[in-house]
Amino acid sequence: MDNAGMNDAGTDDAGVRDAGMGHAGTAGTPEPRPNGRVARKTVLRAALAATAAIPVALAGGPALARTLTTTGTAVPLTPPCDDGDHPTPEQIEGPYFKPDSPQRTSLLEPGLPGTRLTLTGYVFGRACLPVTGALLDFWQADTNGAYDNTGFRLRGHQYTDSRGSFALTTIVPGLYPGRTRHIHVKVQAPGRPVLTTQLYFPNEPRNNTDSLYDARLLMTVRDGNGGREAAFDFVLDVPQEPGPGPTPTGTPPSDGTWAAGTAYRAGDRVTYAGRGYVCLQAHTAQPGWEPPSVPALWRAA
Ligand SMILES: [Fe+2]
Repeated sequence: MDNAGMNDAGTDDAGVRDAGMGHAGTAGTPEPRPNGRVARKTVLRAALAATAAIPVALAGGPALARTLTTTGTAVPLTPPCDDGDHPTPEQIEGPYFKPDSPQRTSLLEPGLPGTRLTLTGYVFGRACLPVTGALLDFWQADTNGAYDNTGFRLRGHQYTDSRGSFALTTIVPGLYPGRTRHIHVKVQAPGRPVLTTQLYFPNEPRNNTDSLYDARLLMTVRDGNGGREAAFDFVLDVPQEPGPGPTPTGTPPSDGTWAAGTAYRAGDRVTYAGRGYVCLQAHTAQPGWEPPSVPALWRAA
């Protein structure tokens, strides 16, 4: 069925518009906050960006790319998650969601027309820690603005990896009457409620006339990889153990070996893989924040 003439805006503008706006951190040395705490997302980005497994295209982190427009103007985009507030806003599901989509990270198939689009990002919880195994179920219109409601073309789900990251390969969705350009997605941390929302493209004329459009759900989009490259990070309203704090209570293992879950203080010394390191900033160690991977937190002794 071709639904190019239909409008999934519905009658309920369910966008949550009371969440604050802010700018995502960049991947660099964690910035001390006025209260002495460290923006956890900044620390996390430092850890993620310092890890070789990050694709070159993402070095610097998706948030860095999203912070500024092409004109260098700061814009209020997806909310930060550095203090356990402001989760990604919800939006209506629309009429075209179908359950039981295939598990796949690429929605491309032979003969599918359209401009190639890669979408990458992370799923965080309220404490800005990555959510492993979070479900992301995407669905979208084809390049002509039509949804496939009989099959599963341009529908697919996947799960975040141990770093909370995801990557989708698809095409730029087409326009259909009543809506600006968008991608639908459901995101769910294991055992938690489903977040249903939509992602938007910058510099779309219809963004100004679509009542569902929400700037906090704008992706960063740029040319690359033979098409378009987009980035977006989700913040789910799921509780997590706090990360870095001003008064860590844990103590390093007595043998000095680095261990995830330990609250380290500046000046603490550990060994990791036979090498010594000095802690540069108080934090609670997380998997993926091993000293060689996080120069913002550890200096080789
Ligand atoms: Fe739609």
